[in-house]
Amino acid sequence: MANDALARPACAADDWTVPQEWDRYGADEHAMWDRLFERQARLLPGRVAPAFIDGLDVLRLSKPGIPDFAELNARLMDATGWQVVAVPGLVPDDVFFDHLANRRFVAGRFIRKPDQIDYLEEPDIFHDVFGHVPLLANPVFADYMAAYGRGGQRAAGLGAIERLARIYWYTVEFGLMRGPEGLQIYGAGIVSSFSETLFALDDPSPNRIGFDLKRLMRTNYRIDDFQQSYFVIDSFEDLLRQTIETDFAPLYAELHGTPDLAVDAIEPDDRIYHRGTQHYARSRLSQTGDFHHEP
Ligand SMILES: [Fe+2]
Repeated sequence: MANDALARPACAADDWTVPQEWDRYGADEHAMWDRLFERQARLLPGRVAPAFIDGLDVLRLSKPGIPDFAELNARLMDATGWQVVAVPGLVPDDVFFDHLANRRFVAGRFIRKPDQIDYLEEPDIFHDVFGHVPLLANPVFADYMAAYGRGGQRAAGLGAIERLARIYWYTVEFGLMRGPEGLQIYGAGIVSSFSETLFALDDPSPNRIGFDLKRLMRTNYRIDDFQQSYFVIDSFEDLLRQTIETDFAPLYAELHGTPDLAVDAIEPDDRIYHRGTQHYARSRLSQTGDFHHEP
């Protein structure tokens, strides 16, 4: 993800990338990757969109542990023309969009510590690579991500980045998809999280609502805990088609000044898959405010 008020660290190139320096990872860091990978690879089949499972093979490299981007990129480039580039942390919006539009996904280099296995404030390499890269090996999703980057560049000129970012949040990070036998997860924030994989699909608390571009662009999201609403796409093909065929400039203009929708709102036009009880969010609010977040 991106942020605007950032200064480029001295170690980074003009495009904010840094070498991954794979040789510097320790055995404990590789072991953490393997532990997280195995836990999610066991949990996800039957819950995640099949395209994600297909794409997981791209991460099964010649060495165990944290993927070496050089080897990973050779495979990803063959599949869809994408690459993964390391960055030292959050990058400005324009840098982020430029990388995406040119089929480069920015990823953090560090991996969480053992006491952060289920608690993380900033995305680490497990979230960025395990969560995002398998779908970058899918040709349709790969095109969607590049289209999003180009859309971000246009949104920047129209003062509408915040609106567009909501689409990223509710698709790329926290998206659900309709499957032949029920809902499936595909968003990176869910698939890289053991607890949100269970919550997003099984818990009665959150809303699950049919995807609608305009609706998403009006909806706030939470960065500090599980989502209170998830949005369900029909397919990656449909997501890509809507993104490419929609002229966003008039939509931004139409939405300008309209009030945002709350994270748990249900609107009269919503296609509701599940009306959430919101019991989880309410129970959290009644506690100390010490939220638990895993991106
Ligand atoms: Fe992410």
